[in-house]
Formats: sequence, structure tokens, C-alpha cells
Amino acid sequence: MANVTVIGAQWGDEGKGKIVDWLSERADVVARFQGGHNAGHTLVVGDKVYKLSLLPSGIVRGTLSVIGNGVVLDPWHFRDEVAKLKGQGVDITPDNLQIAETCPLILPFHRDLDGLREDASGAGKIGTTRRGIGPAYEDKVGRRAIRVCDLAHLDDLGPQLDRLTAHHDALRAGFNEAPIDRAALMAELTEIADFILPFVKPVWLTLNKAKSEGKRILFEGAQGTLLDIDHGTYPFVTSSNTVAGTAASGTGLGPSGAGFVLGIVKAYTTRVGSGPFPSEQENDIGQRLGERGHEFGTVTGRKRRCGWFDAVLVRQSVAVSGVTGIALTKLDVLDGFEELQICTGYRIGDRTFDYLPAHAQDQARAEPIYERIGGWSETTAGARSWADLPAQAIKYIRRIEELIGCLVTLVSTSPERDDTILVRDPFAD
Ligand code: IMP
Repeated sequence: MANVTVIGAQWGDEGKGKIVDWLSERADVVARFQGGHNAGHTLVVGDKVYKLSLLPSGIVRGTLSVIGNGVVLDPWHFRDEVAKLKGQGVDITPDNLQIAETCPLILPFHRDLDGLREDASGAGKIGTTRRGIGPAYEDKVGRRAIRVCDLAHLDDLGPQLDRLTAHHDALRAGFNEAPIDRAALMAELTEIADFILPFVKPVWLTLNKAKSEGKRILFEGAQGTLLDIDHGTYPFVTSSNTVAGTAASGTGLGPSGAGFVLGIVKAYTTRVGSGPFPSEQENDIGQRLGERGHEFGTVTGRKRRCGWFDAVLVRQSVAVSGVTGIALTKLDVLDGFEELQICTGYRIGDRTFDYLPAHAQDQARAEPIYERIGGWSETTAGARSWADLPAQAIKYIRRIEELIGCLVTLVSTSPERDDTILVRDPFAD
């Protein structure tokens, strides 16, 4: 099975964009399978920088790109992102971009609700991207969503809209917000439908056909395993399953199609938004990691929280996502540290753990147990072979492999696509 599924193995922002771009050159199809425009994937191609939130990264190189049913789609954002990329010279047509008929829509009141809830939550807020992701997924599982295929049947939307607006109007009343303006909503949907519908296809069929023709499919995960609704640091998570298994349910290809699972892992740890982060460094070290790593959110511009590499969490991600190999990114950010630390366990009260317990309070109280390892003074930026790396950097990588129980497939040493040390070709497996 020559497919590859790329997922983040931490809290997102691991540098998936570059890796997916690098792999998409050899893929026949690139598919998004969960999340929405909360993602931020940065691609550097030559002297151009592309920032994608919703569209699969393959689109930049003209590879057939599909948005699977597991994605929640804001149709207005879709139109804006298509326009932005076209403005950068990217060719986007229904021949190279498809949207699944069954994607639930993110509507304007989902975005409102996301913001209202965050504003009302004070210190307990999740720190969402405020893009309506959570409320849209709630409507999906509540069986009241408007889906992409409904855009072709707007005249039949009446009873569905009744259920949806009844639900949301009650919520809005609780926030002293006016009820949904149905006429305005219908007008907006009618206006956007013409733009969206040409892209709408039975994506599951496209992918199954591609599979039977022996084509290479690249599944592009968004966010990270620790933000997974089931396996992440709940409730400080996103509202979708971000684990590799979702590549199947979020596209309609079946579990055997996932292929090689490539977990993207940053050489240290970052997190945006609230929630537990045992190895966080709220000090000079965190500051230095953030500055050297340019750790600001692609979508919201928020400063990312930074800390040491947490081997416990990545080991857990490797297990729950069934990771075959990892891509280690941003190693060069650690250049010049005299000493590095790796979190190898937690102390919670008088107990020690070699995994992160599920309860939010235990997670919040988890104190990291560190192992110290010597750093290196040389630069690793731009390294393209093991011979270019200092011995201590190799030692650091080998120790990470041991602790997480998974081997490195590639090492990325700068945002440039060619600054990559390839150990094993995921597509060749
Ligand atoms: P939501 O996905 O907007 O509901 O946000 C829920 C949590 O996931 C927040 O902590 C966000 O900061 C985080 N999050 C969502 N998308 C991303 C991403 O692409 N990278 C990193 N964190 C993300």
C-alpha cells in the first residue's frame, strides 16, 4: 500500500506543511480528512510562501486535492482562500480540487457561538481559533447540520433549517443575541452555492478509484494527536479526531488505505491555547525556543507556549495513531543550547506515570521528570545528511527514538524543502 498518512504527534504546529508539500510532489492525490480552517499549514516553495488553512497542501503543486467528509467547511472562507491562492498564481479548478458532498457547513452563527462561549468562559476558556469549528461539529453529531450537498437543494431546506435555528436561537437567547435571520442566511447560502457546487463530488468514489488504479494517496492531517477529541488533553482539544485512523472515516476509503503513518514531531514542544503542558518553560528557555522557532500561530498570530521535548506524550501519540515512522522538525532551534532536557515521565502527588493520565486535574498537576542530555554548539540548519549533523545532535535524535519507541523517517532542518535528511521513503513501503 503506497499511501501515506501524515499526522501531528504533539499539539499541532509541528511543521506538517513542509513535509506534506515535500511528499505531495510524489503523490497522485492529497486528501484532508478532519478539522477545517482552524489549521495553518505554511509552505515555502522557492521564494514564495503559501499559507493554507482549509485547502489540501497538494493544490499548490497542482496535485489532485480533495476535502474529505470529515472536514467542516466554511464556504465563504473556502472562496477567500481559493481567491488568495489564485492571486499567488496557483491554478485551482474543479479538475484539481474536490469537496465531499457530505461535509457539514460552518455557518456564520457557528463562528458567533464559538466567540461568545470563549468570551463567557473567562479563565476557563479553551483558546479556540474562534472559527466555529466546535459548534459545526456539534451540529453534525446532533444530526441537524446543513451539508455541502444541501447547497444543491436549498428549496428543500425548510424543515432542516427549522431544527437548526430552533436549537441555535435557544443558545443565542442565553447570550442575549438576536435570533438567526433566516432570510439573510438563505440569501447568503444561495449566493455562495454557485461557487461551491462545481467542486462538489463523491470524494469517497474518487479515492476508491484512485486506490484501485494503484495511485498514491497522501492524507494530510491537521492539528495534532494531543488535540484529538478522544485521545487529547480534554477538554482543551479540538472537536475532531486528529489521529491517523480518521483518514479512513474522514474520507470513505477504509482503514486499509491509510498506508504508512508518518507522525510529525517537533524537536521540542509547543502549544497554542489553554490546557495542560507539563514540560512548558515559562522562562528564558521558553522565550528562546519561541524566538528561535518563530513560534506564532499561522491562523491567529497568537504566541505559542514553548517547552522541552516530552517523550511521554509522543510515545502515547505513536501508540494511539499507530505511527510507522516520525519526521523530526526544527532541530536547528535547539542549536547552541549547552544542555537539553527531555521529559521521560510525570510525578503526580506521590505517584509516577509513564503515560499521561486521562483526568484533566491529573494532567494539570503532572510534574515532568527530566533526563538531561548535552547540547551542541554547531549549526544544524540546512543539514542534508547525517554527516552534516554534530555527534550530540545525532545522540539527541537516537535517544528520542528509544524513548518514543519509533524510528526517524526523516529530519527537517529548515523550512526549505531540500533541507531534509531522508532515512526511509514513506511512499516506498
Ligand atoms: P478549535 O479547533 O478552534 O476549536 O480550537 C481548539 C484548540 O485547538 C485550541 O487550543 C486551538 O489553539 C487548538 N488548535 C486548533 N487548530 C490548531 C492548529 O492548527 N494548530 C495548533 N493548535 C490548533
